[in-house]
Formats: sequence, structure tokens, C-alpha cells
Amino acid sequence: MAILKILKNDDPTLRKTSRKVDAITPRITTLLDDMTETMRAANGCGLAAVQIGVLRRIVVIECEEGNVLELINPEIIASEGVQNEMEGCLSLPKRWGITERPERVTVRAMNRKGEIIEITGEGLLARALCHETDHLDGKLFSDNAIHMLTPEEIEEMEQDA
Ligand code: NI
Repeated sequence: MAILKILKNDDPTLRKTSRKVDAITPRITTLLDDMTETMRAANGCGLAAVQIGVLRRIVVIECEEGNVLELINPEIIASEGVQNEMEGCLSLPKRWGITERPERVTVRAMNRKGEIIEITGEGLLARALCHETDHLDGKLFSDNAIHMLTPEEIEEMEQDA
């Protein structure tokens, strides 16, 4: 496994649309392993392949320690409710904002065995599913944030933590 470099801020690759994965190859499973290792090394709870410069529709999410979701070609097929919570991104260091997301979403995706799976998440997991899926279409949470925290607000938040 390998820890890969995470693209940041205005890197133009982050704005590109990722392509679907047609078949699970050893290259894809190695990529999944590297993505999880990279996400963990950066203390993140989600990572999309585009963030390490690979334009493939693949994300990993670990909202709950030890429970890694590997989603290939994820698609949101249902959503309900609304939540306005704090969000950050490994590609936007030191930036935080409040975003509006559905409270509950269901995603259909392929797993590393090539099986179609459906995942329903609420709260933090619902946010992560939306956030990571957005990356695959070149979107960042800051694009539609209700409010981006000011440096003073971030300082205050860090003191409270
Ligand atoms: Ni992100």
C-alpha cells in the first residue's frame, strides 16, 4: 500500500468529472487500498480518487473507525430530510463551512467484488456520501456552502475542540 499525495485548493484536476469504472482490475483494488491508507494518514473520513489525481468514480469513506466503505460508481438514488452541519475536506485545508445536505441518503454502488450494493446513511454518513459523490463531478463543498467560516470563527472552533 502507499500513501499518495492529496491535491489541494485550486488544483484544476479537482474540477474535472471522473469516469465510470467498467471492470474491477488489480489496478482498481490496489487503488482502493492506497486510498484508504491515504485517507487514514490524513485523518480524513472520506476520499475520492480525483483527490489523488485519478479521474475514476471511486470513493472510500470511514465515518466509523474500522468500517471502511469502498464505493465504485456511486449514485445517490434516494434522499430525504435536511441537515445543516459543519463540513471540511482534505483538499481544502483549514477551510470549514456549513452546508445543507439531506439527512438521509441511499447510494447504489459496486464493491470491490463487482457486486452491486446499496448503502443508506444518516447524519454524518449521509453528508460524507454526498460530499464524496460531489467530488466525482468536480464539485467542492465550498461551492454551495451556506456559510464559510471566517479565520476568527475557525480559531474559536479550534479552541473549543
Ligand atoms: Ni472532500
